[in-house]
Amino acid sequence: MGKNTFTLTDNRDGKSFEYDIISGTRGPDVVDIRSFYKDSGMFTYDPGYTSTASCDSKITFIDGENSELRHRGYLIQDLAGKHSYLDVCYLLMRGRLPNEEESKGFDLEIRHRSFLHEAVIRIFDAMPDHAHPMATLGAATMSLATIYKDHLNLDDEDSFKEMRRRIIAKMPTMAAMAYRNSLGIPMIYPDVDRYFTENFLYMMRAYPGGKMKSLGNGLSEEIKQVEVDALDAIFTLHADHEQNASTTTVRAVGSTEAHPYVSIASGIAALWGSAHGGANEKVMDQLKLIGDVKNVPTYIAKAKDRNDPFRLMGFGHRVYKNRDPRAESLRGLQKKLKDELNLDSKLLDIAQAVEEAALADDYFKDRGLYPNIDFYSGVILTALKIPVEMFTPIFVIGRTVGWITQWSELKQDPTAKIARPRQLYTGK
Ligand code: ACO
Repeated sequence: MGKNTFTLTDNRDGKSFEYDIISGTRGPDVVDIRSFYKDSGMFTYDPGYTSTASCDSKITFIDGENSELRHRGYLIQDLAGKHSYLDVCYLLMRGRLPNEEESKGFDLEIRHRSFLHEAVIRIFDAMPDHAHPMATLGAATMSLATIYKDHLNLDDEDSFKEMRRRIIAKMPTMAAMAYRNSLGIPMIYPDVDRYFTENFLYMMRAYPGGKMKSLGNGLSEEIKQVEVDALDAIFTLHADHEQNASTTTVRAVGSTEAHPYVSIASGIAALWGSAHGGANEKVMDQLKLIGDVKNVPTYIAKAKDRNDPFRLMGFGHRVYKNRDPRAESLRGLQKKLKDELNLDSKLLDIAQAVEEAALADDYFKDRGLYPNIDFYSGVILTALKIPVEMFTPIFVIGRTVGWITQWSELKQDPTAKIARPRQLYTGK
C-alpha cells in the first residue's frame, strides 16, 4: 500500500502534484486539492459540483447508492413518525435527542417564539392579491433582518441558540400568513396552546377569532391527530439533506457575513425552483395534466424524448441513484393514510401507474431515476387540505432547521472561507 496521497500528473510536461487523501467517518474519501492552483497555476473544472465536496460537516450523511439518509447518525426511518419533528430539530442542532424535560422546554419555547413583530405582518399587506406564498415568504423572512439587527456574537452560544430557535418558530406563522394574504383573508395569530405542527394547521384553517370551520353536516375541519402526525412526519422527512442546492446557497451567502435570516431567505429562493423543492408543486400539476392512467405511456415517452423539454417531475436525484429513503417513507405513509384521510384515489392510481411504467423502463433504469421525496408528498398534503401553492412553503418549514444548523456549522468552522469559485473563461 502506498501513502495516503493522490498524484495528478500534467502529461504535457510530466510535472506531478501530490495531494492528501482525507477520510471522513462515512462516505467516499476526498482529495484535498486546496493548494492545486498555487501549485500548478490551473483550476479544477466541475460545473454543478458533481465531484466537489464544498465543506466538511457532522450533521447529515447520505449514501445514495444504498438509499441511506442519516441525521447525526440516526437513520431517517428511525426518526420520521417515531420522534416529534421538534425533537428532530433539537437532534440536528444539538447533536443528540432531547430528554423528556428538554423536549418539553424546547416545545414551549418554540410556541412562544412563534409570534411575528407587527412590522413583518404589515409586509404582507404590501403584496398583491394572489402573490405566490413562496415570494411573500422570502420577503417576510428577509424582513426579519430589519428587526433582529444585533450582530451575532460568534462566541456566545446563547446568541446562536436564540437566533436558530426564533427562525424555526416563526417560519410556520409566516408561511400561513403568506397564504392567507394571497387569498385576502384575515390573519390568524399563533395559539400557544398548540404544538408546532398543529399550530400551523390551525393558522391555515381557522376563522377569525380562532373558530374552526364547521361543515354543517356533522363533519368539521377540526384538526385530527392523524393529520398532525402525518404532517409532523413530512416536516421531519424534509428537515435536512446535506449540501443540496438551497443549503449550498445558504452557506454561500452566510460565508459573506450576511445576516443569518438573509441567508435563510436566499435558501427559500433557491428551493423554489422546479429542479429542487418547487418540484412538489409541479408533480401535482403533472398528475392532473396526465389526467388518466391510460395517458401515462404518452407522458413517459415525452420524458424520454431528448427533443422534448418535458421531464417527469418528482423523478431523479443528484445523489440517490437508487430509491430515495424519504420517498419510501412517504409511500408507506400514503398507504397508511389512504382510507383514514380519504386520499384522492384517482391521483394515487395515476401516480402508481407513472411509477410502475418508469421503474420498468430501461431509460429510467439505466440513469438510476427513481421517485424522489417530491413525488409522494402532494397527494398526502392535498388530503390535509393544503393547497398546491403551499407545497413548497411546507418544504421550507421543514428545511429551515437544516439551513440554520448548516449555517451555524459554517460560522463555527475556523477554516471556513468566503464561497468564491473560479471559472474557465471562453469569452472575447
Ligand atoms: N425525467 C426524465 N429524464 C430525466 C429526469 C426526469 N425527471 N431527471 C433526469 N433525467 C435524465 C436527464 O435527461 C439525463 O439524461 P442523459 O444522460 O441522457 O442526458 C440524465 O437523466 C441525468 O440527468 P441530470 O439532469 O444530468 O441529473 P442531475 O443530477 O444534474 O439532476 C435533478 C437531478 C435536477 C433532480 C433531475 O433529475 C430533475 O430535473 N428531476 C426532475 C425535478 C425534480 O423532481 N426535482 C426534485 C429533486 S429532489 C429535491 O430537490 C427535493
